[in-house]
Amino acid sequence: MAKVKTTYFCQNCGAQSPQWLGKCNSCNQWNTFVEEVIEKSDKRKIPFSSEKDKRVVKPQRLTEIKQENENRIQLKDAEMNRVLGGGLVLGSLVLFGGEPGIGKSTLLLQTAVAQSGLKVLYVSGEESEQQISMRAERLGQLNDNCFILTETSTQNIFLQIQEIQPDLLIIDSIQTLQSPIIESSPGSISQIRECTAELLQFAKETATPVFLIGHITKEGALAGPKVLEHMVDTVLHFEGDRNHFYRLLRSVKNRFGSTNELGIYEMGSGGLREVENPSEILISGNNENLSGISIACTLEGVRPILVEIQALVSTAAYGTPQRSSTGFDLRRLNMLLAVLEKRCGFKLAAKDVFLNIAGGIKVDDPAIDLAVVCAVMSSNADIAIPNTICLAAEVGLSGEIRPVNRLEQRISEAEKLGFEKIIVAKSKTQVDTKKYAIQIFEAGKIEEVVRIIFG
Ligand code: TYD
Ligand code: MG
Repeated sequence: MAKVKTTYFCQNCGAQSPQWLGKCNSCNQWNTFVEEVIEKSDKRKIPFSSEKDKRVVKPQRLTEIKQENENRIQLKDAEMNRVLGGGLVLGSLVLFGGEPGIGKSTLLLQTAVAQSGLKVLYVSGEESEQQISMRAERLGQLNDNCFILTETSTQNIFLQIQEIQPDLLIIDSIQTLQSPIIESSPGSISQIRECTAELLQFAKETATPVFLIGHITKEGALAGPKVLEHMVDTVLHFEGDRNHFYRLLRSVKNRFGSTNELGIYEMGSGGLREVENPSEILISGNNENLSGISIACTLEGVRPILVEIQALVSTAAYGTPQRSSTGFDLRRLNMLLAVLEKRCGFKLAAKDVFLNIAGGIKVDDPAIDLAVVCAVMSSNADIAIPNTICLAAEVGLSGEIRPVNRLEQRISEAEKLGFEKIIVAKSKTQVDTKKYAIQIFEAGKIEEVVRIIFG
């Protein structure tokens, strides 16, 4: 009997080792190595690639490569088109991640059914045909050109693909697929990598766009090896609170467009609806003008997010005033309070100051400094900051307002979410204010910000 070949894979980064290791040498995580069976046969039998393997590819001059104009499919979903950078590029592999129950299957099924002019193959390894058809009925749309296949073996999937010749392939989900070439179980690092590689080859050789639904881990990263994200052309994240109706679609990586775009949907009884006017979200949650609240635009990795900063300033009941902060560095808060005291003449020495970042998130981006300062001033004076203003700037020790990185991305996010004004720092590299509908105010000192906000 042939010896079963096994190897160890780090479940975090996909590193491979012939023996078990307690700590992964490449990502420094502990206890992530898992043994997986690998049995590679020499002949990779993927039906569509047999003849093309023999083709010899020659180098071409960059200037001589022909560009095809019509290489994007316009989906019926305008938000998705925008997030993808202006439509779905032919032959692209799109990884679509999100928490369980957030609506990944719903959104892609909806997209599949809405494309009446395209032949779409929706492969599900998670639900039965009946379940999918029930869901499609619930979405209120049916389409003759949409095929459903419940299958997990890539070999069988490719056989069906040859028969149907779809224009768009959707896989729900990559973690359920299994390639017969590899022995290990579905969802394991080596299976995910192999199945993605096969689908990638299919996408590139037949110029068929492929959507892969991917699960995410507890920490919010896409499950599977990091190489998965490197292999695909586009990584989309579908996120939102399961207890709320709104869902955000972002691109984390996009080889065919920028990653600044954001798509907003609302989950209802008839599926996901595109939200054209995003300020709906803000107005509904935040229409009372309370003092001590400001909105900052911060970055989480490369993604801009808007956070609400809440401050409470009250007269100290004890001799030593309390300073407490949740989600923000306490030392930085103390520094900002000292700047307010010394440079702007606010008397905060005998006041308790509490600071909280709403939603339980932690931010260590200096770009929220100005929002912290404004929330403290607002609470101190008991005057509300209008909820149409957003702030993105750092505050220096002499009370000067300093510019922050990726400003255009922050401005676009604030604009997308329906803010009317954003306050940023004066900088040499001017932002093109005409490009945006949002009003951009440039301030050099805290006093100027006070004038803009409180008039
Ligand atoms: P689903 O697409 O199955 O999530 P995922 O594939 O990301 O795990 O979404 C399931 C949730 O969506 C479920 O909790 C019910 C809700 N839903 C609606 O509210 N309305 C609908 O029309 C549909 C189809 C689902
Ligand atoms: Mg699903």
